[in-house]
Amino acid sequence: MSHEEHAAHAAHEPGPQSAVADGESPDGPNLDFAGTTPYEDYVQADVLTHLQHPRSDDPGEMVFLVTTQVMELWFTVIVHEWETAARALREDDVPVAIAALKRSVRELEALNHSWKPLGQLTPAQFNSYRGALGEGSGFQSAMYRRMEFLLGEKSASMLVPHRGAPRVHAELEKALQEPGLYDEVLRLLARRGHAVPAAVLDRDVSRRYDPSPEVEAVWTALYAGDEGAELVRLGEALTDVGELVWRWRNDHLVATRRAMGSKTGTGGSAGVAWLEKRATKNVFPELWTARSHV
Ligand code: HEM
Repeated sequence: MSHEEHAAHAAHEPGPQSAVADGESPDGPNLDFAGTTPYEDYVQADVLTHLQHPRSDDPGEMVFLVTTQVMELWFTVIVHEWETAARALREDDVPVAIAALKRSVRELEALNHSWKPLGQLTPAQFNSYRGALGEGSGFQSAMYRRMEFLLGEKSASMLVPHRGAPRVHAELEKALQEPGLYDEVLRLLARRGHAVPAAVLDRDVSRRYDPSPEVEAVWTALYAGDEGAELVRLGEALTDVGELVWRWRNDHLVATRRAMGSKTGTGGSAGVAWLEKRATKNVFPELWTARSHV
């Protein structure tokens, strides 16, 4: 028997190890459950894996839909981490805030890696299901909007698309009215004796955060001091977050440029030209500008 024949033969006739490997061996996992499996009860995999309803016959639509769903799940985890961090900062618990931000950094990396399956779409490939999306656009993602709100990119008009969905609208309204992550950081800096101006501390948190020269000076002084200080480590965790959010926006922009050039978006915007403007916005602006003065 040749080497290949031997391999094929072995594949068809399981040896004695396969009995040990399968679930019926005495030391194998349990097979017998009265109802659904405990895994299912926890993960709800049956629900999760039946939420895919492609709208075209194109085989490439499935990965577009699932990538979008996977990203929605990551947005959900990241919002959870940043809300945890904001709460911890409010309670002056910086280590808990830094731990949540660091988890979110790993999650943002995983989120950004999820661009892989969509990063090289050609216009013809995208066109094969683009029409089926109708006016649907990631612009209408409420969970992404909550991320942006937490980052200080607040805008009441972003609630308008969600008027027809009461739960989503209520969650977004709450996120709009609550202080963002950076508001909590700046309040903490003020409580620790740093000269954050009253105008920043008392700002209307339902509006977009505007950079302040005084806040820039606070970060400059902190960064010129002890690198190991808790507030510098907090600043670096926030910078990591800002960098990875910027990378998500840019990866999205490049994927969009490859898939549709300068056509208008399904959501009605100018497309790439509109996304380019969005991608230039700096997350936690003074953490970037302060670097010029250290
Ligand atoms: C390669 C495929 C994709 C293309 C061609 C594309 C295209 C676009 C375009 C043109 C916009 C601007 C709004 C509009 O007019 O529609 C947009 C916005 C957006 N897309 Fe995508 N997109 C793609 C994949 C994704 C995926 C997988 C997600 C994940 C959820 C996503 C999330 C978003 C978000 C959150 C916005 C709003 C950004 C903001 O408000 O700054 N996109 N997209």
